[in-house]
Amino acid sequence: MRLDVVTIFPEYLEPLNLSLVGKARARGQLDVRVHDLRKFTHDRHNTVDDTPYGGGPGMVMKPEPWGEALDGIIASGEAGERPTLVVPTPSGRPFTQQLAVELSGKPWLVFTPARYEGIDRRVIEEYGERFDVREVSIGDYVLAGGEAPVLVMVEAVARLLPGVLGNAASHQDDSFAPGRMESLLEGPVYTKPPEWRGRSIPEVLLSGHHGKIARWRRDEAFRRTAANRPDLIEGCDPAALDKHDRRILSELGWRELPDGRFGRQRQAVEE
Ligand SMILES: C[S@@+](CC[C@H](N)C(=O)[O-])C[C@H]1O[C@@H](n2cnc3c(N)ncnc32)[C@H](O)[C@@H]1O
Repeated sequence: MRLDVVTIFPEYLEPLNLSLVGKARARGQLDVRVHDLRKFTHDRHNTVDDTPYGGGPGMVMKPEPWGEALDGIIASGEAGERPTLVVPTPSGRPFTQQLAVELSGKPWLVFTPARYEGIDRRVIEEYGERFDVREVSIGDYVLAGGEAPVLVMVEAVARLLPGVLGNAASHQDDSFAPGRMESLLEGPVYTKPPEWRGRSIPEVLLSGHHGKIARWRRDEAFRRTAANRPDLIEGCDPAALDKHDRRILSELGWRELPDGRFGRQRQAVEE
């Protein structure tokens, strides 16, 4: 997979040399190219921002450097190759595991992390007419720039690429993983020693009984999801729930609705 990032802070992307992503780069599984937006300016001060039309506080990123940078990157692709542009912005669609999976299937992603109040809208319109452009938010809060969101998204996408994780199966049991975990958070995990500061591990994990361990893990996933993200339980596809899932949800105080979905008990909703 090829990844291009255009930024005014190329150093911010240095963590992409570390850990899993760094190793994937070294192995040639990821071709990451970071571009300095200021190199596409032509004034003495390498200006990338200007005052907003209509007035108001803050500055807006000028369209010309972005246009020049993106045109150059796009032209550097092999004939017929078309990148997906990922535009980090708090006003975008939420970045989810589902989107990470979708992006991991693309051959080429170009990220445009902004600063100030964001990029002149015409840049998104211009490329949106010719390319797949995704405006994406990593959460309901506002950061000073899009570089940290790019690090977040690249790591989420890169670990899904074939051969990047040591054990390919490990992301299939993750929280939000498409399939049986799609609406669930992973439960607690333990390793050796079996006892630490007087705390032991759940007996079932020592049983060697794969079926019982899998059921315990799934029950714990329901417990944790119900406690931390009840919205996920409410959105859970009834077809993904087996009879044990339904039982644990009832035990946790959830009520099965006529359409097979689960809702919080009336009492809990009113509280
Ligand atoms: C200060 S923010 C601009 C916020 C913008 N005025 C708004 O209210 O939507 C500057 C840049 O940081 C990045 N950014 C900030 N928060 C983000 C988030 N939650 N998700 C993705 N990108 C974000 C985007 O690249 C954004 O253009």
